[in-house]
Amino acid sequence: MLKKKVLKALNSQINAELHSSSLYLSMSSYFHSLSLSGFASWMRVQAQEELLHGMKVYDFIISCGGRPVLEAVAKPDADWESPLAAFEQTLRHEQEITSRINALMDLAIAEQDHAAKIFLQWFISEQIEEEAAAGGIASRLRLIGKDSSGLFLLDAELGKRVFTPPPAAT
Ligand code: FEO
Repeated sequence: MLKKKVLKALNSQINAELHSSSLYLSMSSYFHSLSLSGFASWMRVQAQEELLHGMKVYDFIISCGGRPVLEAVAKPDADWESPLAAFEQTLRHEQEITSRINALMDLAIAEQDHAAKIFLQWFISEQIEEEAAAGGIASRLRLIGKDSSGLFLLDAELGKRVFTPPPAAT
């Protein structure tokens, strides 16, 4: 049984993950409009992963006997000044998500909600990877600058990312 405050914060986290998914799908559309299909594909995979994060929280609430309550998902931005601006926003966004996860963990500790603490551990580790990935691509885009051949090489590399669905629960 989840503590009431923890349940409320987890519900809000579902919304944050769905918003992340929507934001990255919007970025995918932006990259398509620039004919950068590798960047577009990378962002589409990212959007799929965020949806999965939201579902992970949703399923956890249910498995603890709670009821997920969905809220309106904020409209994402649709345009960016450059690929670098999109990845800088991605990094800032992930840093905000990290702060939210840390606050959730602080709450689970304060409420002595041990199941939530164990569950949130996965998200703490995931956020390290999320920030490293977004920050790494933003750094490379800064190095590339206006060199279009560098941009196309990075586009080809990012296009190799594939979405790997989690194994089905047994
Ligand atoms: Fe679900 Fe990118 O954090």
